[in-house]
Amino acid sequence: MNLSDIINYTDGIPHYDLKNIIQYLEYKGKHKFGAHFRISPHDYEIIFQIISWIVNDQKACEKYGMSYRKGILLSGPVGCGKTSLMKLVATLVPKNRAYIMKPTREITMEFSKRGYDIVNQYSRSVRSPKAICFDDLGVEPPMRYFGDRINVIGEILLSRYDLFISKQILTHATTNLNTQEIEIRYGSRVRSRLREMFNLISFSPDAEDKRR
Ligand SMILES: Nc1ncnc2c1ncn2[C@@H]1O[C@H](COP(=O)(O)OP(=O)(O)OP(=O)(O)O)[C@@H](O)[C@H]1O
Ligand SMILES: [Mg+2]
Repeated sequence: MNLSDIINYTDGIPHYDLKNIIQYLEYKGKHKFGAHFRISPHDYEIIFQIISWIVNDQKACEKYGMSYRKGILLSGPVGCGKTSLMKLVATLVPKNRAYIMKPTREITMEFSKRGYDIVNQYSRSVRSPKAICFDDLGVEPPMRYFGDRINVIGEILLSRYDLFISKQILTHATTNLNTQEIEIRYGSRVRSRLREMFNLISFSPDAEDKRR
């Protein structure tokens, strides 16, 4: 079964039953992550927002202040399920919206081996898929380049913004940080671009840690 089997597009407008969609996500999630996977009613609101983005439900997107043209910045407390959810969403999006997951920690490790070329690598539009979900923004260790401090992920985010503006290439991310903390970590230039390139979707601050 595919997502498109439970969505009915009439005149380009998606019609679907949210209960069916939740069931479908649980089915896919169990398949991908194991039988313990379930979607808690506490997370329904988050799921609805993401669904309206996936299926381009303009009415719902409007209600949530979201845009189909932008990426997703999924924030929330440790262990609430951000990474799993973005991995699941990656299996549901249409081909032209495919993205890869990339832990920010891996990028900084690549940077310490290969230097500045890494910034260019994640800022290019020729990669396939073009869209990237930076997983765990803000936990990567600070880097130095010939003694100078460099904010590798911050630099990459600024370049990704340029890609978004010039070529509509999407960037997604997961993070434990709120926008204020993102500004502290990456500076005001990154913060000022966030709203323009991302739909900001947040788990409730007291969402349970699903690792427990
Ligand atoms: N919907 C779910 N049902 C059951 N278990 C889940 C669900 N989502 C995630 N988990 C489990 O909870 C744990 C944490 O999930 P995940 O890594 O996605 O959280 P996270 O928000 O990305 O955490 P962190 O902030 O540390 O990056 C994992 O072991 C995962 O398998
Ligand atoms: Mg995570």
